Amino acid sequence: MDLRINREHQARLDLVEGLKVYVAGNVMPALRQDFEKWCDEEKPTDSQLRDATYMHAKFDDDPLYQASRGLQRISQESMWREVIYGLDRRKEAIEKELDTPSDAPGSLTLDPALQMPVYYEKNEFHLQPGNYHRNTIAGPIYEVGVATYTMHRYGKAGDEMGRALVSVMPPKKYQRVLYMGCGPSYKGYPVVNALPEAEHWGIDLSAPMLKYARHRAIEHGHPINFSQMNAENMGFPPGHFDLIYCMLLLHEVPKKAVVNIVNEAARLLAPGGVLANLELPSYSSLDPLSAFLMDWDTENNGEPYWRSYHEMDLLATYRQAGLKSQLIEAHSEWGGAKGNYMGKFKYHVTMGEKIGA
Ligand SMILES: C[S@@+](CC[C@H](N)C(=O)[O-])C[C@H]1O[C@@H](n2cnc3c(N)ncnc32)[C@H](O)[C@@H]1O
Repeated sequence: MDLRINREHQARLDLVEGLKVYVAGNVMPALRQDFEKWCDEEKPTDSQLRDATYMHAKFDDDPLYQASRGLQRISQESMWREVIYGLDRRKEAIEKELDTPSDAPGSLTLDPALQMPVYYEKNEFHLQPGNYHRNTIAGPIYEVGVATYTMHRYGKAGDEMGRALVSVMPPKKYQRVLYMGCGPSYKGYPVVNALPEAEHWGIDLSAPMLKYARHRAIEHGHPINFSQMNAENMGFPPGHFDLIYCMLLLHEVPKKAVVNIVNEAARLLAPGGVLANLELPSYSSLDPLSAFLMDWDTENNGEPYWRSYHEMDLLATYRQAGLKSQLIEAHSEWGGAKGNYMGKFKYHVTMGEKIGA
């Protein structure tokens, strides 16, 4: 599918991306420099720097902080607006393509009766208007928006998280593989390419995402089976999969749902099977300023569960679900890039193995 938008909207989108690059590459480093100088003079303790009230008292009236956060919010809103205006001009044609059935290998099963959880229904994650499920072309909107959002640091194919995941996956024979919260699914293509003999499944709550995922997978020659399900309660039999993975799913659901999803994945794994979850680093593994800046998303970027996820003990949740668990860091091209407010970072992959192999 051709996702190019017309020149006028593309020019504005490029401007938005330039703004994001400027904030990340110039404003944030200046903010960090001021902060480090202030720390040298005032000598705050580490526990003070980890205290949100203390940090807000320091930063809330700081013009550089205010400017950086304001520009971040404006760039996010403008980004979605330009993507949506840009793609809306071809909306009918895109919808027609997405609705055309295909007998290509793989499948698409939608469930119009599936109940959307309240935490999902009531939110617009990272400010995407209509969320993932209320716009018929949410899939293309997400793909074009995310490329700009991440300043094209997920690589040309937008799949660098999937490549990072493959790089740390335990070498085993995986026959049936499930991608939970797959969205448009392209970040999972490196997993599909690494395991060409396996049967691949993708589930998501959103019908528009899955229609796009199916269309895209056919275009790329991937025989993936897509099904509309809630990851908290999937309709597969116990022990059905050898590998279950997700990327950027767990930070978008409340803690109770994270526990439900981990338990459900553990139920679906065969003995010796693997659960791999890739996300950005936990707050405690980042320096205090990066953690504080990252936390801003919780209240200001449509990410209500960002804080609870990045502070939770996921390894304990895995263990309680009967998984032998460990945290593995995976190389991130994005995390190594210059102009990144979190400094250099690696992805966190929470890896679990179902005991009883
Ligand atoms: C941030 S997007 C990530 C999509 C994809 N993993 C990627 O990285 O491009 C989160 C995805 O999880 C889906 N999702 C959120 N909660 C879910 C749930 N409880 N069950 C299944 N999918 C869910 C959303 O519809 C969305 O497609």
